[in-house]
Amino acid sequence: MNLILLGPPGAGKGTQAHWICEKLGIPQVSTGDILRAARKDQTELGKQAETYMVAGKLVPDEVVIGIVQERLKETDCLEGYVLDGFPRTANQALALKETLAANNTQINAVISINVPDDLLVTRLCGRRVCSQCGASFHISFSPSKTEGVCDQCSGSLMQRKDDTEETIRERLNVYHEQTKPLINFYKGENVLQSIDGTGEISDVWSRINNILGK
Ligand code: AP5
Ligand code: MG
Repeated sequence: MNLILLGPPGAGKGTQAHWICEKLGIPQVSTGDILRAARKDQTELGKQAETYMVAGKLVPDEVVIGIVQERLKETDCLEGYVLDGFPRTANQALALKETLAANNTQINAVISINVPDDLLVTRLCGRRVCSQCGASFHISFSPSKTEGVCDQCSGSLMQRKDDTEETIRERLNVYHEQTKPLINFYKGENVLQSIDGTGEISDVWSRINNILGK
């Protein structure tokens, strides 16, 4: 099954992708994670993406489209994947559609996760991520057992550089201007499923699980 998780920063795309991938046995393809890994390794791509990401702007379409086209060719994507954070612009959505059509395949469902902006700011300001394995926590909503230490690998927890209030506001503006219109695009493609992204992480997961079926 080829899925897209669509939603603003902090909607829970990464959190829910983890559960979906575990249930369906397919990989999570997160453009944000791929770009952050490139920044950590200081590759050309990472250096190119850094300024955009720290400012809360989108990395240019041609760069991100190329990354996803390459990633989807890998064998672990043959049985399906969860796209987390892609597409985010009309150009990206059209490029994805064309690439898939050229391979006689398509997106089966787009799950749009809706959360009010104020709650998103609270979620992102309190997010902590593991510097080693990338696991995500929240200081109040989903705390690690020991403060500052990852439950999964004992790595140290840190704040993402773009999780400052100013950059979060910019990321939200970018979402409303450039990504939210994709909701209508996918409605027109008859693949959109909208869910309420508020409540406990487990509540949101039950809503998604209902869409995925048994
Ligand atoms: P990316 O990494 O994709 O960031 P984002 O879209 O801003 O989304 P986040 O990862 O911040 O949020 P999320 O929805 O995954 O929420 P999470 O599950 O972590 O992109 C980063 C940057 O890379 C972009 O700004 C851009 O520069 C660049 N980029 C990436 N893709 C691109 C593209 N396609 N085109 C161009 N540029 C691109 O949850 C957040 C927090 O809330 C966590 O602490 C979690 O524990 C908590 N939480 C989650 N669910 C709940 C709940 N139900 N209740 C309480 N807390 C919850
Ligand atoms: Mg994420």
